[in-house]
Amino acid sequence: MPERPSRVVLVGFMGSGKSAVGRVLARRLGYRFEDMDRRIEERAGRTIAEIFREEGEEAFRTLEREEALAVSRLPGRVVASGGGAFAVAETRTILQQGAITVWLRCDLERILSRVPADGSRPLAGNRDIMRALLAQREPWYRTADVAVDASAGSPREVAERIVGLIEGRTRKRTSARR
Ligand code: S3P
Repeated sequence: MPERPSRVVLVGFMGSGKSAVGRVLARRLGYRFEDMDRRIEERAGRTIAEIFREEGEEAFRTLEREEALAVSRLPGRVVASGGGAFAVAETRTILQQGAITVWLRCDLERILSRVPADGSRPLAGNRDIMRALLAQREPWYRTADVAVDASAGSPREVAERIVGLIEGRTRKRTSARR
């Protein structure tokens, strides 16, 4: 039996489907699902929007790094990271440890159609801001172990693509060791 990674960490921009795909993928792999943003909210007893408003982005990034460390100790997990987590060096390094990282690549049009302008995502500004933020972060998302097209298809279809990519990589690693 080829070895499976202990964790699958989903990275990518807001609205790329990390949480929806993550839930399906976890079921498919028999892993548990962890949503970093929800964990941060539970621990802080506040919403992400409140944390940004009351303490600012820096404080949120600290909570995010701490949460990355907490999930990096949990085996058998599919982790949905927040859209900015992988763009912060220290958090990225923590998330990479013992995990396969998967970039949910998604075009801006799709992202804009999925992200509600309800204030729940403090960094979801207008189209130009989103485009600039995406361009700034893409080089980091690109460093993920594998990339999957998340612009088209249901969460279930995207999850199946990821399973194929993970199995392909695991097979390659196992046969290279022989
Ligand atoms: C953020 C994305 C959000 C959340 C926070 C900051 C970002 O997560 O972590 O609002 O910097 O892009 P999602 O990618 O789950 O929306």
